[in-house]
Amino acid sequence: MVAITEAVSLEKEGDIGMLWIDNPPVNALGFPVRKGMADGIAMAMKDDGIKAIVVICKGGTFCAGADIREFGKPPKEPHLPDVLTVFDECTKPIIAAVHGTAFGGGLETALSSHFRVAVATAQFGLPEVKLGLLPGAGGTQRLPRLIGPEKALPMVATGNPIGAAQALKEGVIDEIVEGDLAQGAVAFARKVLAEKRPLRQVSRMTDKLDKNPQIFADYRKQLAKTARGFEAPEACVKAVEAAANKPFAEGLKYERELFSQLMMGSQSAAQRYYFFAERQVAKIPDIPKDTPLIDIKKVGIIGAGTMGGGITMNFVNAGIPVTLVEAKQEFLDRGIGVIKKNYDITASKGKMTQEAVAKRMGLIKGTTKMEDLADVDLVIEAVYENMDLKKEIFGKLDAICKPGAILATNTSYLNVDQIAAMTQRPEFVLGLHFFSPANVMRLLEVVRGAKTALPVLATAMAIAKKIKKIAVMVGVCFGFAGNRMFAQRKREVDKLVLEGAPITQLDKVIYDFGFPMGPVALLDLIGIDLGWSKETSKGETMQQILCEAGRFGIKNNKGYYNYAEGSRAPKPAPEVDEMIKALAKKKGYTPRAISDEEIIQRCIYPIINEGAKILEEKIAVRPSDLDVIWVNGYGWPVYRGGPMFYADLVGLDKVLAVMKQFQAKHGDDFKPAPLLEKLVKEGKNFASLNV
Ligand code: 3HC
Repeated sequence: MVAITEAVSLEKEGDIGMLWIDNPPVNALGFPVRKGMADGIAMAMKDDGIKAIVVICKGGTFCAGADIREFGKPPKEPHLPDVLTVFDECTKPIIAAVHGTAFGGGLETALSSHFRVAVATAQFGLPEVKLGLLPGAGGTQRLPRLIGPEKALPMVATGNPIGAAQALKEGVIDEIVEGDLAQGAVAFARKVLAEKRPLRQVSRMTDKLDKNPQIFADYRKQLAKTARGFEAPEACVKAVEAAANKPFAEGLKYERELFSQLMMGSQSAAQRYYFFAERQVAKIPDIPKDTPLIDIKKVGIIGAGTMGGGITMNFVNAGIPVTLVEAKQEFLDRGIGVIKKNYDITASKGKMTQEAVAKRMGLIKGTTKMEDLADVDLVIEAVYENMDLKKEIFGKLDAICKPGAILATNTSYLNVDQIAAMTQRPEFVLGLHFFSPANVMRLLEVVRGAKTALPVLATAMAIAKKIKKIAVMVGVCFGFAGNRMFAQRKREVDKLVLEGAPITQLDKVIYDFGFPMGPVALLDLIGIDLGWSKETSKGETMQQILCEAGRFGIKNNKGYYNYAEGSRAPKPAPEVDEMIKALAKKKGYTPRAISDEEIIQRCIYPIINEGAKILEEKIAVRPSDLDVIWVNGYGWPVYRGGPMFYADLVGLDKVLAVMKQFQAKHGDDFKPAPLLEKLVKEGKNFASLNV
C-alpha cells in the first residue's frame, strides 16, 4: 500500500489498483482527496502491473461530495472538474465502488469513472441544489448523457437521491454487488478486462440526449410551484438543457459559469450556512457527548386532541408503543379515529400499506385511566393551555409514574419550572413543544427547566432524532424562543393594518419575501378567535371586532377575507375594510401609504431584536439555533438563512439604525436589545456568537 496523501492510498490486488479514499467522516472531496485521486490515477497509469483501477472508500460512505467547508475560501488546485477529467481520459478502466452515499461531487466522481458498481443499500444523489448550487464538476452534463435529460432533471433540480435498485434500472450503475464490496469490485474489474470491454466515457455518450424542448418547459412549470423564490433549481434546468444542446466541453464550461454565479450569491451562502446550522443544533456546550441516555421503550401521551394525536403518530411511526390517555371514552374514540383516518388517507395515496397502518394502530393503547401510565418511560402531556390543569396532572403523574420516568409538557407558553415544582422529580421534567400539525412539522423545542438533569435533556434530543424531528434546546420564558419572536411580527401586523397598509399588500410583501403565506391570511387559517373570549371582548382590537361580528377565519368562511364554502382561496371582504377604517379612526390613526420596505422592516426587524434578547437571556444556545427554529417552525425561506443570518446580511448597523428610527416614531416596541447595540459597537455580527 502506498500513501499518496493523508487521505488517499494505492494498493495492489493482483493486477487491479485499489485507490482507497479515507477522509472521515464522509470522505468529502477536500484538497488531500482531490490531490490524492489525481496523483493516484497518474501513479496507477505508470504502473504496468495495474490493468484496471477501483476507486473505493473507507468508513461508512463513498464520497458525500465536495468539502462544503472549503466553499467561500480561495480554491486550491487541483480543482475537482480537472481531477475528473483525468478520470474520464484515463486509458485504464476505472471502476467506482460505491457504498453509503455517492452524493454531489461523489456521484460526479463515479460518473467520471468508466463503470460503477454498488452495494444494494447505496444511494445516489446530486444534493447541491439544496445548498443553493448546482453540480459543478460535470454532474449536470454527464448524468443526462447517461440516463437522459428527463430522468436527470429531477435528480439535479430537487437533489433527492435514488437507491441502488433504481440506479441499476436507470443505468446509473452497472451492477449491484452482493457481499464484500472491494472483492465484488475487483471481480467486476477482472470481468471488464477479460471481456475487453471498451471504456465507457460518459462524456462521449449522446444516444440518450433527448433535445425535446417540451421536457424542459414541463419541468419548469412544475418548479414554479415547488421551488418559488429559489434561484438554483432554474440554473439546474439551464445546465441540463445545455447538456442536451451543447457539446460536452461547452456544456461543462456553462455549468461552471452557473456554479460560480450561484456560489457568489446570497442564497447559496444562506443555504450552506443552514446546512451546518441544522447539524450544530444538536450540540449543547454543557451536555457532553457521552451523557448517559434513558431508554425510551414506551411512551404515554395525555390528550387525544389534534396535538396529542399528532404526537402519538410520531412515536408509533418510529415503532415506539404509546399509551394514549383521555378523560372520556368518547374523546379517546374520536382522537384514535382521527389518527386512523390520517393513516388511511396516506394508504389510499399508495404511500403506506394496509399492514403498516394496522401495525401502527396496534402500537396505540387507548385508556381513560392515568394509572395505566405506571410503566411508561416518557409521558408527554398535551392538554389545553391551563396552568391549574397542567399542575394537577403533573402532581398525579409524579405519584403514578415509575421512578426515572421523564415527564414532559407540550405547553407553548407556560412556565415549565412551575409545572415541575408540582413533582418530587423536577430534574425529570421538561418541555417538549411540538408544532402543529405535530405529525408533519419538523420542529421540536426542547424546553430546559431550571432543574432538568443532563441525561433527561440528552435523551430528549436523542428521541427527537428518532422520531425525525429537529430538536432545538431553549430555556423557560413566555412563548420560549419561536413564539416569543413570532409575537413581534403579529403585533406589528395588527398595527400596520390600522396605520393604513392594505391587508393584500401586507400578505403579498411577506409572501414575496418567501414565507408560504402572508401574515393576515395566516391569521384566517389559524383562526382569529384563538385566544379571544366573548365575555371580555370590548370591540377595541381588530381581533375583537372581527370575532364579535362572527368572523373567525377560514373555519366559518369569513375572517379578514371571505372564502367560498370549502375553499381556502382568499377573496376581498369590503365589509372588513370598513371595520378597519372605523377602528383606525376611533384610535386616532391617519391612514397613510406604507412602503413595501417598511412592511419588511416592521415585520422582520423586531423578530431579530427579540432574538437578540433571547440570546442575551441565554434562552437559546446560539443565533443559528433561532434560524433553525424559524426555518422549520414558521416557514422562513431557507434561501434567506433565518432571521439572525438575514440580520447579518442586511448589516446589524442598519438594523439598529432602523430600529432607532422606528422607536422614535412608534415607541418602545422597537427599543433595541442591548446585545444588538453591543455587537454594532464592537463591529461584530450574530455569526460571531455561533459557538
Ligand atoms: N462537506 C463537509 N462536511 C460535511 C459534508 C460535506 N460535503 N457532508 C457532511 N459533512 C459533515 C457534517 O457537517 C457533519 O459534521 P459534524 O459531525 O462536525 O457535525 C458530519 O459530516 C456528518 O454529517 P451528518 O451529521 O449529516 O451525517 P449523516 O450520517 O446524517 O448524513 C450525509 C451523511 C448523507 C452524507 C449528509 O451529511 C449529507 O447529505 N451531506 C451533504 C452532501 C452534499 O450536500 N453534497 C454535495 C456537496 S457540494 C458538491 O459536491 C459540489 C460539487 O458538485 C462540485
